[in-house]
Amino acid sequence: MDVFGLDIGGSGIKGAPVDMETGEFTADRVRIKTPQPATPEAIVQTAVEVVRQSGWNGPVGCGFPAVIKDGVVQTAANIDESNVGFNLQKSLEDRLGHAVRIVNDADAAGLAEMRWGAGRGVEGLALMLTLGTGIGTALFIRGRLIPNTELGHIEIRGEDAEHRAADGARKRDDLSWKEYAERLDEYVTTIERLLWPDLIIVGGGISKKSEKFLPHLTIRTEIVPAQMHNNAGISGAALAATTEATETRVTARD
Ligand code: BGC
Repeated sequence: MDVFGLDIGGSGIKGAPVDMETGEFTADRVRIKTPQPATPEAIVQTAVEVVRQSGWNGPVGCGFPAVIKDGVVQTAANIDESNVGFNLQKSLEDRLGHAVRIVNDADAAGLAEMRWGAGRGVEGLALMLTLGTGIGTALFIRGRLIPNTELGHIEIRGEDAEHRAADGARKRDDLSWKEYAERLDEYVTTIERLLWPDLIIVGGGISKKSEKFLPHLTIRTEIVPAQMHNNAGISGAALAATTEATETRVTARD
């Protein structure tokens, strides 16, 4: 079975139909630049355009760079403030006429890595980090997602960690790989002290160059590069649409 995966990011809105057995795309990916300003209406219009251009007619899973509860955007660390409180799920469902599931972008990438990539078969506590403009995190126990963790925003040296250790910070501060590795090491070591994970998976575009910085880390937890690279966001979003792993609320309480 195929499901359409959408990945809404700061620079591009990307989508492709995904084979749920393999996580691979079954048609070419469509990418359109994220509109500026990235208001909710402009984002929805562009996302709908990506789905239309792909010729897709069916259920959609969508990753978005914010905390998501019941399809509603809750935060705006690296996106336009006007998105907070927006019901992205309802708006996309109304326009597309099909079921849509919205999840945090790092949670989507993590779901893909756990199913098809570096986290396959890992039963313990696994943490996926996406290093991009910000730091996204996805936490799994026995392969099950604990949604909406925002561990990229812990405080390090009085600063938001993602401002120091995201790939965006490396570029902004023009850091060498060694200098960047020191910042990342301080971040992951702090996370290690707080969570004691069994595995950390490093994703985001920078993970393709992992040999430049992972060897410099002193952390004792096993830390490995992501395997799905660019596909993780889209494939994981599609997966989120078919799994209950992303439910954020219990439906009944005794
Ligand atoms: C946001 C997260 C998001 C991450 C990666 C952070 O700034 O708070 O929700 O997953 O960036 O896009």
